[in-house]
Amino acid sequence: MTLNPSYPVSVAPMIDKTDRYFRQMMRLLTKHTLLYTEMIAAAAIIHGDRHRLLDFDSVEKPLSLQIGTGSPEDAARAVKIAQDWDFDEINLNVGCPSDRVQSGEFGACLMAEPQRVAAILEAMKSATDKPVTVKHRIGIRSQTRGVSMETYEELVEFVRSIQPIGVQRYTVHARIAILEGLSPKENRDIPPLRYSEVYRLKQDFPELAVEINGGIKTHGQIAEHLNYVDAVMLGRAAYDDPYLFSEMDTRYFNSTGPVPTRREVIEQAFELLEAWHAQGKNARNLVWPILELFAGLPGTRKWKRMLSQPIPPKKSVHEFLSAALDQAPERWLDVRGIDVSAT
Ligand SMILES: Cc1cc2nc3c(=O)[nH]c(=O)nc-3n(C[C@H](O)[C@H](O)[C@H](O)COP(=O)(O)O)c2cc1C
Repeated sequence: MTLNPSYPVSVAPMIDKTDRYFRQMMRLLTKHTLLYTEMIAAAAIIHGDRHRLLDFDSVEKPLSLQIGTGSPEDAARAVKIAQDWDFDEINLNVGCPSDRVQSGEFGACLMAEPQRVAAILEAMKSATDKPVTVKHRIGIRSQTRGVSMETYEELVEFVRSIQPIGVQRYTVHARIAILEGLSPKENRDIPPLRYSEVYRLKQDFPELAVEINGGIKTHGQIAEHLNYVDAVMLGRAAYDDPYLFSEMDTRYFNSTGPVPTRREVIEQAFELLEAWHAQGKNARNLVWPILELFAGLPGTRKWKRMLSQPIPPKKSVHEFLSAALDQAPERWLDVRGIDVSAT
């Protein structure tokens, strides 16, 4: 039995990217794709400004809260607090390789301690009635910790150790994390992708819901992966090429459409931007999720340049955004879907 096939596609948790503004912009493109928060440290939820960290708008649902922690006690406390927010599931980060996260003894380095991961997941489950899920790597390498967990057999051992907890999805970034000598960015590019090991995991554990992640950028690739696993998670593609998501609902969620045009997305995005600006938010910081709506198409330089500028003090946001729309390449604005040969 597949436990949670409801979300064949998701947008990865990404610090400094998948904030509530980005998520609301993504919702103009796809209503059903599962979205994630940025990773939030459990300790921050316990000790910090909970509303700033956890508040979201109901349009962002379905939404998964990703936490980072190495402590079962903190996990339980944070998850209990988050019960007052209506997240659709709670996810544990066992994939982040950053030094800051390692010094807090969480993220990818936890893969070396499957019993601790199991204890954290157990604590999360006991603190919520929501599904609990986990995101990890296919392995890790760490000289200072004396750990080399790089084979498929070691991945299986890790999964076996946490399997009794009964988490509802395993999202597997199909590359190992190298915990010294590579930056987080390099750890997303340099260790080679080994998709076949994620496929094999699903084959060997057909009862688990397995989601694949890493380097996935096109509908062709998504469709290919879905032949082998339950779900596909895209990270950077969501901001490098957001219009890719315009077809997610019709392709993977049985939605009958219509696929929104770029003009429709931009007009709704502008309404959001004006509302946020009126609330005192810095519109320039909010504009970036739509900059790449024409990714891969020619003639979009002026649109990007215009929208990247500060709003001139004498202009209203509305005037500024309308002027940017005038610079958008007319010929792509009303095309419905990503098949540009239709123009
Ligand atoms: C800017 C950025 C921030 C990220 N922050 C997180 C995070 O908060 N939690 C997490 O589990 N992974 C994080 N990741 C990793 C992504 O979730 C994903 O695993 C990785 O980018 C590989 O997928 P992709 O090739 O589709 O981008 C981050 C990635 C990027 C690019």
